[in-house]
Amino acid sequence: MEKKKINIIEVGPRDGFQSVRGDFIPTELKKEIIDLLVDAGVKHLEYTSFVSPKAIPQLADAAEVSEYVLSKYPDLDLMVLVPNMRGATNAHNLGVKKVCNVVSYSASHNKANINRTHEESLNAYREMVEAYPDMECVLDLATTFGCPFEGKGGKYQDPDAIMEFLRPYKEAGMKTVNYCDTIGVADPEQVKKVIRASQKAYPDVHIQVHLHDTRGLGMVNAMAAIECGVTDVQTALAGLGGCPFAPGASGNLSTEDTVWMLNEAGYDTGINFSKILAAAKYQVGKIPGNYSGHHITIDK
Ligand code: COA
Ligand code: ZN
Repeated sequence: MEKKKINIIEVGPRDGFQSVRGDFIPTELKKEIIDLLVDAGVKHLEYTSFVSPKAIPQLADAAEVSEYVLSKYPDLDLMVLVPNMRGATNAHNLGVKKVCNVVSYSASHNKANINRTHEESLNAYREMVEAYPDMECVLDLATTFGCPFEGKGGKYQDPDAIMEFLRPYKEAGMKTVNYCDTIGVADPEQVKKVIRASQKAYPDVHIQVHLHDTRGLGMVNAMAAIECGVTDVQTALAGLGGCPFAPGASGNLSTEDTVWMLNEAGYDTGINFSKILAAAKYQVGKIPGNYSGHHITIDK
């Protein structure tokens, strides 16, 4: 029987690096880690953000990293995060074909993260979709499952309310939605409910999940999504990560752990476990940070 394919979308160079405080990660090291990821078989890569360098100093070299990645790996599925129209324009000018525009389901986190109201975020999304029809605009729905300021009750337990929130984005042309557990508070039943509601409300909208591993539930939540038919899972090398504007945010679901699980369980990730583990170890040795990966030492 043919193995079921799961697309691992590596977000370490974006969500991972953005969380690293202290010394600036040299651009050459960023490129080197991206090369290791690609060599291990990564084909989907969110490699930086076009954000204010005051907000995220670690990604101030977005243009340089972008030029490197776009010219070296033109055939890969490449994307960058953009918080606003300015970021979308900068990305488009460099030839970026896919951006992820982030809005938080939580109004208070949206304000803390990108200093926008929900209405302003929606207007910005509409504006970029209209301005750049040749650039795919994925919607990253941050804090889908809970918020550092608002908890995870009420509207976070109401998948229909989440779908209603997305309706104007769908009407604006959203083709892919990325349900993000920004602080790692989702549980597998909650994930399943949101995925099923999404499949029902917007059957032609492609789904991704983005999970943090705060309570060790990242992989369980990923499997819950996969069992519902999701094929695109975001992970970060060695589990590095966390939104600097979400107090308590911990590392991402780690790429090497997820690859190991899926490869063992008979899925096709296209990623070589030994190589991705070596890349994770290399990064951990070079960049101190907020890691959630388990760094298993056996490499087969
Ligand atoms: N790229 C580079 N610089 C940008 C920018 C972009 N996309 N958007 C705004 N800026 C600059 C402005 O030029 C301005 O610089 P100045 O102070 O030197 O004049 C500064 O950032 C503030 O701009 P302003 O429009 O007033 O925005 P703001 O202060 O309301 O900040 C964001 C809004 C979105 C730019 C900022 O909060 C941000 O970049 N956040 C990043 C969020 C993020 O990536 N979170 C983690 C991932 S979920
Ligand atoms: Zn994240």
